[in-house]
Amino acid sequence: MPGERIKVSHVMPCAVNLLTVASKNERDAMTATAMFVSEDPPLFVVSIRKSIVAHRLIEETGQFALNVASTQQAKLAKRLGREKAADKFNEFGIAIEKAPAVNAPLIKGSFAGIECKVITSFPVGNFTVYVAEAIGFSVNESLSPVVWNLDRYYAIGEELR
Ligand SMILES: Cc1cc2nc3c(=O)[nH]c(=O)nc-3n(C[C@H](O)[C@H](O)[C@H](O)COP(=O)(O)O)c2cc1C
Repeated sequence: MPGERIKVSHVMPCAVNLLTVASKNERDAMTATAMFVSEDPPLFVVSIRKSIVAHRLIEETGQFALNVASTQQAKLAKRLGREKAADKFNEFGIAIEKAPAVNAPLIKGSFAGIECKVITSFPVGNFTVYVAEAIGFSVNESLSPVVWNLDRYYAIGEELR
């Protein structure tokens, strides 16, 4: 065992998304990883801590957006991964636009925006796992996504052949 220096939850490289969710009167953004689990229909899973605002808003709306963080958003991903604020969009200067298929906003400057509708969910410990269908998406191929590993953020490196 590598001892206490490394947490097992930090070992696998993870996708870094800025998850957004909005009800009629409230909105939130947080950093969350996600995993692609079905092609037809296109499904993703996210697992969200029960005690946080985003969890309550996903429960209320059954919708969210996964804004796949671009390298330009690494600092924002770090902030949304630990800092709380009454309105993160205003306080962190997050520029948004309306999503075509869900009520959750899309964050400008993201590598991709995946609009998700929850189809089922179940509790696991102090988290809830949501399985969600991608009902819309857009990609900005001029940007690059971020990867998280051993609690650090990386740009994708050289292609291996
Ligand atoms: C790279 C990264 C990935 C994360 N993934 C998740 C996740 O999948 N689910 C989750 O509940 N929290 C995740 N977090 C932690 C939340 O982003 C963090 O608890 C955040 O502060 C929640 O916002 P809030 O405290 O304002 O509600 C992640 C943090 C980082 C840095």
